[in-house]
Amino acid sequence: MKVLGIETSCDETAAAVVQDGDLPDRILSNVIHSQIQEHEAYGGVVPEIAARAHLHYLQGIIKRAADGAKVSLDQLDAIAVTAGPGLIGGVLVGVMAAKAMAMALQKPFIAVNHLEGHALTPRLSHDIQFPYLLLLASGGHCQFLEVLGVGQYRLLGATIDDAAGEAFDKVAKLMDLDYPGGPAIEQVAKGGDQNRFKLPRPLKGREGCDLSFAGLKTAARLMIQNNNPLSEQDKAHMAASFQNAVADCLSERLQNAIQMVSVPVKNFVIAGGVAANQTIRDHLQNVCARNKLEFVAPPLRLCTDNAAMIAWVGIEKLKLGQTDDLSFAPKPRWPL
Ligand code: KG4
Ligand code: ZN
Repeated sequence: MKVLGIETSCDETAAAVVQDGDLPDRILSNVIHSQIQEHEAYGGVVPEIAARAHLHYLQGIIKRAADGAKVSLDQLDAIAVTAGPGLIGGVLVGVMAAKAMAMALQKPFIAVNHLEGHALTPRLSHDIQFPYLLLLASGGHCQFLEVLGVGQYRLLGATIDDAAGEAFDKVAKLMDLDYPGGPAIEQVAKGGDQNRFKLPRPLKGREGCDLSFAGLKTAARLMIQNNNPLSEQDKAHMAASFQNAVADCLSERLQNAIQMVSVPVKNFVIAGGVAANQTIRDHLQNVCARNKLEFVAPPLRLCTDNAAMIAWVGIEKLKLGQTDDLSFAPKPRWPL
């Protein structure tokens, strides 16, 4: 079974061909065009620019994915595409392309929830069995999920304001660091003291595993303004202090999430761009060790936005006979 996946919900134009079967030979191609350069000057993703860029790049990216996988389009078993949630202009570009291909090729069309793509990635990369506990931490999302089966997700807690990656991006912008802010802060933090700035730990000690980063970001903003202009050394201290505060928050909330699962789980999985951060990984890994949970992190190129995860959901759904009608309407908001 071979499925083409298409992803255009944010600032990555991506296409991939994935097949079922044994590891490690599932991903036949995984092509990603990052639009970082198009959005860099604005310090964040501009929806209108993103939609136009998807339209410009997508056809070529799909061709590269098919060529790279050495499959002709009529050898595909289905076309899977992110149909939400996300920036609707970009989502529309991907969905219309996928529908046109499905119709022309007479193949099944599968509308995929982007979050489900992240949620099922550990099955693509590691064959992880259901159920498992997932932290999805990206630029747009931050939530703990109990993953019980394909299409069966229980939300345990989510951010009540900013996503973790969004907080990284905003704090980086306040310090004139590059976009995206996460990798920039992690780099600069290497030369800093994480105890130099005393930042809050929002929701610490509270019941449940909801998350909050707005107060942390505001506290960082005030300290940055009060120490204006920030010396290079103080930037490093702030980056380290902020990164450590986010890691503390996530690990404290994970401890609560572990108590909240409805069935025993063996694995904890982290996905989303923030999973790239080593300090955050170390903190979460410690919590897992204390709770005798296996810590699983898909390889980085599968943690950040990509189309292989969308093609994989296509395979999981196709196996269950779950395909969609061409009248399926894209959804800017689509909770799992
Ligand atoms: O999953 P992703 O590629 O895209 C979506 O938002 O869906 O995640 C991107 C986010 C950005 O906010 C970026 O700053 C953050 O992940 N990020 C990081 C790191 N690398 C990327 N945050 C902290 N540390 C990193 N090393
Ligand atoms: Zn994502």
